[in-house]
Amino acid sequence: MPRLAYVNGRYLPHRQGAVHIEDRGFQFADGVYEVVPVYQGSLIDEEPHLDRLERSLRELRIPMPAGRATLKLIARELIRRNDLRTGLVYMQVTRGTAPREHSFPAKVSPTLVMTTRQTKPHREALLRDGVSVITAPDIRWRRCDIKSVALLANVLVKQKAVEAGAYEAWQVDDQGRVTEGSSTNAWIVTNENMVVTRDASQAILNGITRLSLLKVIRAAGYEFAERPFTVAEAKSAREAFLTSSTSYVMPVTRIDGAPIGDGRPGALTMALRQNYMAYMADRQEAAAGQDA
Ligand code: PDD
Repeated sequence: MPRLAYVNGRYLPHRQGAVHIEDRGFQFADGVYEVVPVYQGSLIDEEPHLDRLERSLRELRIPMPAGRATLKLIARELIRRNDLRTGLVYMQVTRGTAPREHSFPAKVSPTLVMTTRQTKPHREALLRDGVSVITAPDIRWRRCDIKSVALLANVLVKQKAVEAGAYEAWQVDDQGRVTEGSSTNAWIVTNENMVVTRDASQAILNGITRLSLLKVIRAAGYEFAERPFTVAEAKSAREAFLTSSTSYVMPVTRIDGAPIGDGRPGALTMALRQNYMAYMADRQEAAAGQDA
């Protein structure tokens, strides 16, 4: 059974999925996306992901391509047809197709694409040893809160990380403070055991994993603060980690080559990863119950 993609109303073999050469996503990056994790066949945190999709679209004045119920249906249909157990659903919405002109076209309807991807469990070595990150200037625009497909700066900084043998790059603002990774949010644990991640503003994407982990942290009673931290503070922190819909909670053990803490994944980080995995299992059960 070939993997299917959804493109503007049709389910097509993934390789045949295509949009028009004058799609504004292709020409102007005039669109947004979401990556929703799928765990054991169920969408995790689907509502907050759809909330963020709606918000991103609203900020760009692109209408929703379909009602929320329809989007949910398409996602479920793709998961079912692609027999997806664990991985992600990728959703992309652009302003649509029109003759190339920077201003919004008068008559245009949004393009909607959905695909799925199966992911492998995280390699054991990543969790045993942690991952390394490099730091680099944040050269992005000033609306990083919008999950735009304009990801060129993220692409370039991630490539820098890969070429340095690192897992991720933490981007740094003009005041030497970490904003976020190329596709992940950045966290540290201070020597006082305070969990710190940058506050949600236009400088970062407010990760859904970030939001869910904050809930988990609150429920477990850990001390936390949402505030910026500098690269220097991160390098002298007790622990560090990153979060996203595909990395979940991933221990960071090196920043620019310098070991964090004792250079091993932190105890609190690994407890939070475990708590987060339990949260996903819990959400999975609830979602499976609702869909049944
Ligand atoms: N990236 N920051 C940026 C810039 C991101 O692109 C992402 C997600 C995150 C984490 O958000 P969430 O927890 O909602 O996944 C933070 C996705 C996974 C991607 O681009 O593939």
